[in-house]
Amino acid sequence: MSIEEGELFVIVGLSGSGKSTLIRCLNRLNVPTFGEVVVDGENILDYNEEELRDYRRKKVAMVFQSFALLSHRNITDNVGLGLEIQGLDETEQQVRIEESIKTVGLDGWETSFPHELSGGMRQRVGLARALANQPDILLMDEPYSALDPLIRRDMQDELLGLEDYISKTIVFITHDMNEAFKLGDRIALLKDGEVVQIGDPMSFFDNPANDYVIDFIRDVDKTKVLTAAQVMRKVKYKVKEDISLVDLKSYMSENELEFVYVVDDQNKLQGFYLAEEVDQASSLKGLVRPIEKSFFRRNFVQEIISMVDESDIDIPIVDVNGRLRGLINGSDILKIMK
Ligand SMILES: Nc1ncnc2c1ncn2[C@@H]1O[C@H](COP(=O)(O)OP(=O)(O)OP(=O)(O)O)[C@@H](O)[C@H]1O
Ligand SMILES: [Mg+2]
Repeated sequence: MSIEEGELFVIVGLSGSGKSTLIRCLNRLNVPTFGEVVVDGENILDYNEEELRDYRRKKVAMVFQSFALLSHRNITDNVGLGLEIQGLDETEQQVRIEESIKTVGLDGWETSFPHELSGGMRQRVGLARALANQPDILLMDEPYSALDPLIRRDMQDELLGLEDYISKTIVFITHDMNEAFKLGDRIALLKDGEVVQIGDPMSFFDNPANDYVIDFIRDVDKTKVLTAAQVMRKVKYKVKEDISLVDLKSYMSENELEFVYVVDDQNKLQGFYLAEEVDQASSLKGLVRPIEKSFFRRNFVQEIISMVDESDIDIPIVDVNGRLRGLINGSDILKIMK
């Protein structure tokens, strides 16, 4: 299998299917009997001791299910453990510790000890410790499976939010299909040490590889795990805001559009035109109607459902910069629920 730079790659499978065995090959805690583990063009199985040490210090970091915190060390010292072992300069250590504690939202808890923290917070310490190493690749082996469902949902949402700005490659293990589908850009499903299917979440629903996959995804609530980005259609019709009334009229009638979205020259969504109003109009002035509601690509389908009605109006999906990236209507949502 190959994992792309910057993606959140999920390995899912039942207990004993080989998930931990596989992820531990990625930092060579396990040495594969055959094959290669190529990271940025280098086969890490060829590394000598020093190269391996370097790789583990700078390139990868691991977050464990059990948190693996040292009970006699406070949060700061737990987060800084790896940096201390590396013998990193003290000031640099402080900067990195502070930064990663902040990233996981634990500022104010620096001098507390692990036993004073809840499970969710302890897991954040584990994540902060991994981030302090500034790795390119983050390995997470069932990090949330010991947490309560509600805390777990919060942690999942935080990870998705974090992923937006830390831009790391994340390999995430879970045995929970809902978690896998919610988090994964792509997913590998393991069974008895073999990859049964690999692909983006939609591909599992569209083309399940076999009965095992069908069985496995049966209980997944698609509206809760699929995002707008995975369900939306490409924008077929749109107009620039500097279009002339004549052009707009003919564009809408030629394509039989009841309405059309308007974007600026950076594709940022400005509003929409209604055909019945455009037909009557003698100028474009005041004709653009404002968008009542748009959604981000990251929004889950469930959040969009309440906006959808039987009229099949397309709801615009935008990116964080407000650029129009896709459309979703009631039929699109019905399709995935079947
Ligand atoms: N070197 C090896 N040779 C043969 N079998 C092995 C080897 N390493 C691990 N196994 C076996 O492979 C199976 C998969 O173990 P692994 O810990 O990877 O599963 P897992 O998917 O992480 O399960 P869990 O969800 O319980 O953590 C286990 O039965 C284990 O004993
Ligand atoms: Mg495991």
